[in-house]
Amino acid sequence: MQKILVTGGAGYIGSHTVVALHEAGFEPVIVDNFSNADKSAIDGIKAILQKSPTLYQGDCNDAAFMDQVFAKEGKIAGVIHFAASKAVGESVQKPIQYYANNINSLLVLLQTMEKHQCPHLVFSSSCTVYGQPDELPVTEATPKKQATSPYGNTKAVCEEILEDAVTAKYPIKAIALRYFNPIGAHPSAHIGELPIGVPNNLVPFVTQAAAGIREKITVFGNDYDTPDGTCLRDYIHVMDLADAHVKAFEFLEKQNQSSLIEYFNVGTGKPNSVLEVIQTFEEASGVKLNYELGPRRPGDVEQTYADVTKSTKLLGWKATRSLFESLRDAWNWQQKLSQ
Ligand code: NAD
Ligand code: UD1
Repeated sequence: MQKILVTGGAGYIGSHTVVALHEAGFEPVIVDNFSNADKSAIDGIKAILQKSPTLYQGDCNDAAFMDQVFAKEGKIAGVIHFAASKAVGESVQKPIQYYANNINSLLVLLQTMEKHQCPHLVFSSSCTVYGQPDELPVTEATPKKQATSPYGNTKAVCEEILEDAVTAKYPIKAIALRYFNPIGAHPSAHIGELPIGVPNNLVPFVTQAAAGIREKITVFGNDYDTPDGTCLRDYIHVMDLADAHVKAFEFLEKQNQSSLIEYFNVGTGKPNSVLEVIQTFEEASGVKLNYELGPRRPGDVEQTYADVTKSTKLLGWKATRSLFESLRDAWNWQQKLSQ
């Protein structure tokens, strides 16, 4: 079994990818400092896999620790690098902390991978690098826009670091997956998203409002130039996103060059409005939501959704789960949390 190091493997997307890797016949090895995760995520993974995953608790910025992990594990076939700080608003308040964590952890990782001759890297990027695109749907060739937050800029800078490394023939084959809006949870409800404090993202807010934790949900703006006036996004089930990482790794293994970087959009290709999410959630959960129409949220883009032609052709990957399934699974997870 090939070992894949999963940094941030106790987090939301990382934990689901650990499950997908195991199911695809790989041996995931988790590194996490639990700065934004709970040990219960490891219990959830264990319940699904019927075995404990290998876990190293520590910081990806700690070069000695990372070196020890690689030395102890022996041959690691590749790394999926999820570990990062991800709250957009917090990054505006604490930019230095965000640059330090998100950029330094990639640099330490690249140096450790070079030392241990680990050739494959899948990096978590974001559709945020496109900002408000001039043309939709967004392809990987769509020009990137200046980031609107330090968080967004860390993703753009990390992509540039990988680009420079490859140009200099650094011995690494890398894929940056540009995620659209991940939502939902594992259908077993053993793992899911664990927002700390008041959620910023739409779906955790919706499920908490439905569970009575939040009084109501505010729709941020209904005067956009979209069919129902609310913003459009490309919401992707987290298990579809997890599967894309497996396909990305398998793609890298097939490439003959010693260094390369490729970018892939990971979305469904279908735009949905905020009101459609609310309506579909009501259908999937049977719960009526208390929502109000409110002002726009500063910094929001009006609409963005992916062209997934490249991912479909080169990775042989396509999202298969519907918005209804995603919201049903998100609701089952919320109910489990509320028990
Ligand atoms: P998450 O916060 O749930 O997971 C990140 C994990 O990394 C957490 O478990 C955290 O404890 C860990 N971590 C953070 N810094 C670390 C460090 N220095 N050393 C070790 N562990 C560390 O976030 P997520 O939603 O699972 O996102 C995973 C990745 O995907 C991140 O890079 C994020 O920026 C990116 N991304 C997420 C979204 C989204 O909507 N969730 C969208 C686009 C991109
Ligand atoms: C946000 C981040 C983005 C990040 C992504 C995933 C901003 C400006 N963008 O994107 O950088 O990659 O999260 O973490 O923060 N909405 C409501 N009411 C709510 C919450 C959200 O109407 O209470 C709307 C938003 O206006 C948006 C949609 O729901 O139209 C989705 O919002 P959200 O889940 O926060 O994701 P993004 O804005 O796409």
